[in-house]
Amino acid sequence: MADATTATLKINDSEYELPVLRPTEGPDVLDIRKLYGQADVFTYDPGFTSTASCDSTITFIDGDKGELWYRGYPIEQLAAKSHYLEVCYLLLYGNLPNAEQMEDFERRVTRHTMVHEQMHNFFRGFRRDAHPMATMVAVVGAMSAFYHDSTDINDPWQREVASIRLIAKVPTIAAMAYKYSIGQPFVYPQNELDYASNFLHMCFSVPAEKYVVDPALARAMDRIFTLHADHEQNASTSTVRLAGSSGANPFACIAAGIACLWGPAHGGANQAALEMLREIGTVDRIPEYIAKAKDKSDPFKLMGFGHRVYKNFDPRAKVMKESADEVLDLLGIHNNPTLQVAKELEKIALEDEYFVEKKLYPNVDFYSGIILEAMGFPTSMFTPIFALSRTVGWIAQWKEMIADPQAKIGRPRQLYVGEGKRDYIDVAAR
Ligand code: ACO
Repeated sequence: MADATTATLKINDSEYELPVLRPTEGPDVLDIRKLYGQADVFTYDPGFTSTASCDSTITFIDGDKGELWYRGYPIEQLAAKSHYLEVCYLLLYGNLPNAEQMEDFERRVTRHTMVHEQMHNFFRGFRRDAHPMATMVAVVGAMSAFYHDSTDINDPWQREVASIRLIAKVPTIAAMAYKYSIGQPFVYPQNELDYASNFLHMCFSVPAEKYVVDPALARAMDRIFTLHADHEQNASTSTVRLAGSSGANPFACIAAGIACLWGPAHGGANQAALEMLREIGTVDRIPEYIAKAKDKSDPFKLMGFGHRVYKNFDPRAKVMKESADEVLDLLGIHNNPTLQVAKELEKIALEDEYFVEKKLYPNVDFYSGIILEAMGFPTSMFTPIFALSRTVGWIAQWKEMIADPQAKIGRPRQLYVGEGKRDYIDVAAR
């Protein structure tokens, strides 16, 4: 099949020709769109382990080599040389901006950082101890109740305005969710600050005293945003696409993405990974946890390890690890017990036969929690920070889908294994 343009499928005595689609990179893709109509069979792939759900020009991952590109640019180069808003432009519009385009984009995002004042009342309805992700799902979804002039998905201008609004306001919403949870007043955005500094300022400043953002911490924050900006058709992005395929408005779709990201198998892993490292506590307890992770009868998994696509080092984890060292150095945090456990756990797991054989490497979430904790964020803010970083990826993927004339409502089929048809029985006779 390697050089063929079609593949032949034989079912009983009938043969079916399936077109073979050629990607720019990555494995060939069998086009089965007409298979049901021709052969009256479905394909079966729970968890989409072998199924391409769309074509896309945005992000490419080579899981075996451990490579990640945004619009063709390797993540390592973007993390070292670019900055988050430039990466947002790249993901949204396909190319790096020139100086004028960058300035215009930054101005547009910056002009939208405040949220509707009435949204403040919305926050006050939540319990103080609500998880910031619970608040974010609700408040981002509620944006559709405030910004009616950007919910018509058939109008490209409204789609553009909604995109800018989301990128600009999600940090404000995440910071407000945090401030509310700790009982401090909301801090308005400061538009003279860059995107990452503004977020740190909204999270950590208080009216009672001046807060000056450390530029090195802002750079580390910006890098965390960049590393999480997109990751092709992962669970939350696919959720956004599926929600959007019905024609739902962009704020509702991004809220759906945030809800999906929350799970510990996905974005919630950064919180879970740090909590696990703290629970392990000391290096001598690592073998006990490695044994638990290997035990089939124990549901425990080593959080921050393993990935559906990467069967090699997650390239984001490499950058994140360097960043963790830099940030801890900068803050004068030496001999941090959590970092010691993390480093030792990484070493042991990378040499352990079970992890080597299953190709389980540390993923991006393994190190991000250490940096965020050092910056002063509680674990409950880790996933909201992931959500704010990923908002641009969700939007870029949603926009790509909406603009595609071939896009259809997402409607998977099933392998029904329930009861055959049966007649209703009166309760007295059951
Ligand atoms: N610890 C121990 N064993 C693991 C781990 C782990 N972290 N991850 C996978 N395995 C084992 C599985 O038990 C399975 O073993 P088996 O073949 O004997 O049944 C094998 O490795 C393959 O794992 P699957 O769960 O089938 O892989 P899948 O691609 O479905 O899951 C996932 C990937 C969800 C990321 C998984 O590795 C996991 O739960 N990791 C921990 C959570 C985590 O860190 N998630 C973050 C992902 S990255 C992100 O969202 C940014």
